[in-house]
Amino acid sequence: MKIIDLYRFLCAELTSISNNKKEAEAEAELILISEKFSALNSFNLSKESIYGSSHDIEVNQESHIFILQTIKHRKAGMPLQYIINESWFYNLKFEVFIDKYRKTLIPRNETEIIIDKSIDFILNNKVESALDVGTGSGCIPISILQNIEKNIKWVAIDPYLNEIPLNNAKKYNKLDHIEFQKISIQQFKKLKINKYDLVTANLPYVPSKSNIENTVKHEPQESIFGGKDGLIFIRELINILPRILNNNSIAIFEIDPSQAEYFYNLGDTFNVELIKDIQDQDRVAVLNLI
Ligand SMILES: C[S@@+](CC[C@H](N)C(=O)[O-])C[C@H]1O[C@@H](n2cnc3c(N)ncnc32)[C@H](O)[C@@H]1O
Repeated sequence: MKIIDLYRFLCAELTSISNNKKEAEAEAELILISEKFSALNSFNLSKESIYGSSHDIEVNQESHIFILQTIKHRKAGMPLQYIINESWFYNLKFEVFIDKYRKTLIPRNETEIIIDKSIDFILNNKVESALDVGTGSGCIPISILQNIEKNIKWVAIDPYLNEIPLNNAKKYNKLDHIEFQKISIQQFKKLKINKYDLVTANLPYVPSKSNIENTVKHEPQESIFGGKDGLIFIRELINILPRILNNNSIAIFEIDPSQAEYFYNLGDTFNVELIKDIQDQDRVAVLNLI
């Protein structure tokens, strides 16, 4: 089968799952340009070459089998990112994984607000040290460091840390800038802690009784839920902020919109700014000590 026919076949199969032709086309492109698909062939495709210069290349038997398996997994509800082990975030490609030993959340568009806010803060303030709490794939510190020219020493913690964020840091030459620690926020707070100029936190924050989308059920649940009100881990971090924030420093949290009031009520201790996502929902909270 030729590339262009494989693409059309994929589009038809994926449209039958999502009922959304545009989404299916975008997924089909991501599959064909993925490193996994390239590794099975002797060519690398770009989006344009699927319809252009490479459209009539014949694909091999292994590629066929891979495509059929991909469709099978997608029909079972597995997010595409876990099938191709790639996810795009802030215009960068990150490795993501889910199996018994290696689990990372698929980075979300909303989290890009943390990146924008951090870059803005870094460009206008003296930032030499930073902490990322609940680092997952490492996408937050890596994306920020990739978009600034400043030398910041980052500590990134996660109790479920595995080699995936290290692979990502290595890919973008950030291993010397980020010290990854396999530790929870509860363990971290018992240590003799340094002070930081910036804290970023995308901790599990979904309230436990929330109705979540089907695809989220395939992601690590320990990355998503934060207890009854979703604030178990966030509270732990907020309690130690006065100890770990330098003067004129900020902490940036991704939050559930239902937690906006909790953050506003921190107004005695912190200046509080809430930032909305594209759905006009409170999604990110920025705190700095009064
Ligand atoms: C919502 S995910 C965010 C992952 C990544 N920062 C991102 O934005 O894609 C939450 C992360 O917090 C980690 N986590 C879970 N419990 C934690 C705890 N007690 N302390 C610190 N991190 C925790 C999870 O392993 C997961 O990687």
